[in-house]
Amino acid sequence: MEVVTVDLRSDTLSLPTADMRCAMAEAELGDDVYGEDPTVNRLQLLAAELFGKESALFVPTGTMGNLISVMCHCWQRGSEVLLGDQSHIHRFEQGGIAQLAGVHPKTIRNLPDGTFQLSELQAKYQTSADVHFASTSLICVENPIEGKVLPLSFMVQLRSVADELKLPIHLDGARVINAATALGVPPKLITKYADTANICLSKGLCAPVGSVIVGSKQFITKAKRVRKLLGGGMRQAGVLAAAGIISLNVISKKLYLDHDNAKYFAQNILSLAPDLVEVNLKHVTTNIAMFQINNAMPTKNGQTVAQEFVWRMENTSDGSKTRVKMCAFGDVTVRAVFYHQISKLDVQKALEKFELVASAWRNEL
Ligand SMILES: Cc1ncc(COP(=O)(O)O)c(C=O)c1O
Repeated sequence: MEVVTVDLRSDTLSLPTADMRCAMAEAELGDDVYGEDPTVNRLQLLAAELFGKESALFVPTGTMGNLISVMCHCWQRGSEVLLGDQSHIHRFEQGGIAQLAGVHPKTIRNLPDGTFQLSELQAKYQTSADVHFASTSLICVENPIEGKVLPLSFMVQLRSVADELKLPIHLDGARVINAATALGVPPKLITKYADTANICLSKGLCAPVGSVIVGSKQFITKAKRVRKLLGGGMRQAGVLAAAGIISLNVISKKLYLDHDNAKYFAQNILSLAPDLVEVNLKHVTTNIAMFQINNAMPTKNGQTVAQEFVWRMENTSDGSKTRVKMCAFGDVTVRAVFYHQISKLDVQKALEKFELVASAWRNEL
């Protein structure tokens, strides 16, 4: 019996499309550290235009894109960044901004919708006028965050507070095209509220590797220096950039399909098992569905209820023909992520598996 795997752990599992592979094979190449790779240069021009900034820089990863950006904004020792306590930079990048850049992170509590209180941000701002304080030098905001799109009105208000405090904003816009798709606006209408942004090409956009940083010419010149310092200066990187060009020109226009799948999945697990899962459908607006498992469920071997659920979805000893992979977050939260290679049929199979797991679990309660 053939077992099919539907892997919903992350959109980083997306694969380069056939068109991308052809473009990669045929890409015109040069040494990008000398600025002479025509394909990288084309990608950078395209990104600058799409995100409405003067200039762009191709970097190996989103983590490096964020780190370079923070380092460039926080050149002075003793700098501090204000950022969400649930943000990727704070939680999932090994504290690189402290570890490598010597920048002090000060967190603002992310609210359930992904925004934060601007009054908390204002209250946490401090200057080097007082010798006890690190000097607040940057605000980082992530949009979307955990799949949740921040309202444009929030970005407008954040910009105005940043201007009052004379602080730049760096946007971790790893999936900002998903946010733009959900809002039905061009991406530059979101990035315009930030001075700089990091955008990942290798998440839902299917490129095998890479991110772009966008910002002013002066900022990108500095960023290029820091990229080299961190070992991110690549040579014939056009083989990778060629895929990124297709990400921005082609795959970006198909992200709505992943959003439809995420919503369809979330709506259906809720209607199949309202007694076992909780889903805030208002928060499922892009390609990520976060949901909670009812805490009363039995688990074994000290697993959290979320880990137990994830294990059961993946396990096929019940004779099912589908293995569904997802990620457990915290005690009860599970994440399912949808991307180019996840078809409607895959979603249907995942739902069938969910129904089996739910009914078996219900019998044990
Ligand atoms: C919001 C966000 N920012 C940054 C990153 C880092 O990207 P990378 O894995 O390319 O380092 C990720 C990765 O998942 C992310 O989700």
